[in-house]
Amino acid sequence: MSDDNLTPRPVRDSQSEMTEIVLPNDANPLVALLGGRLMHWIDLAGAMAAHRHSRSYVVTASVDHIDFLVPVRVGDLVILRSSVNRVFHTSMEVGVKVWVENYIADTAQHVASAYLTFVSTDGQGHHLKVAPVIPETEEQQRRYEDAGRRREIRRAELDRRRKAKK
Ligand SMILES: CC(C)(COP(=O)(O)OP(=O)(O)OC[C@H]1O[C@@H](n2cnc3c(N)ncnc32)[C@H](O)[C@@H]1OP(=O)(O)O)[C@@H](O)C(=O)NCCC(=O)NCCS
Repeated sequence: MSDDNLTPRPVRDSQSEMTEIVLPNDANPLVALLGGRLMHWIDLAGAMAAHRHSRSYVVTASVDHIDFLVPVRVGDLVILRSSVNRVFHTSMEVGVKVWVENYIADTAQHVASAYLTFVSTDGQGHHLKVAPVIPETEEQQRRYEDAGRRREIRRAELDRRRKAKK
């Protein structure tokens, strides 16, 4: 990896947006979006920001819990916005916020939020160091601080599970 890749970059450089229209094949028998389909889109939207920030391949290491707040119907537009909250060493936390837009009623509602951890890789099994991310706004700064706290919780939980296996 070149040194250029490790130059700190602002959050805004890798913020991403993905829009999907919900089709019948995305829905359950109640004509509402399948949770699994939304999780797939969340993973993709998160990976977009992670790829753009790290300028490398990434793999999903973990997804924090997801609450589905409102049902999404066939025909709705789903908008997923992702940004890198914080970089650690070879991993980074990406936040994805999902909105549903009803273009007939001109309304938008918050559907779900998720935090994903991606690890940068060269595709041959080696993890790569990721450039630091620079939070510029108050909200980005808050997300940066919160991501640090969430990492401690994740690490404690991983340690607990590893010890329980021994
Ligand atoms: C995730 C993965 C890369 C971790 O590899 P590893 O060699 O066990 O990890 P390490 O202990 O060396 O940690 C590497 C980084 O990942 C982070 N990490 C590892 N497991 C994690 C988890 N469950 N949640 C969050 N972060 C995790 C570590 O904190 C570390 O971050 P840092 O370098 O920023 O400090 C590896 O388990 C993997 O390849 N999993 C499969 C990923 C995949 O295929 N995802 C798609 C879904 S199938």
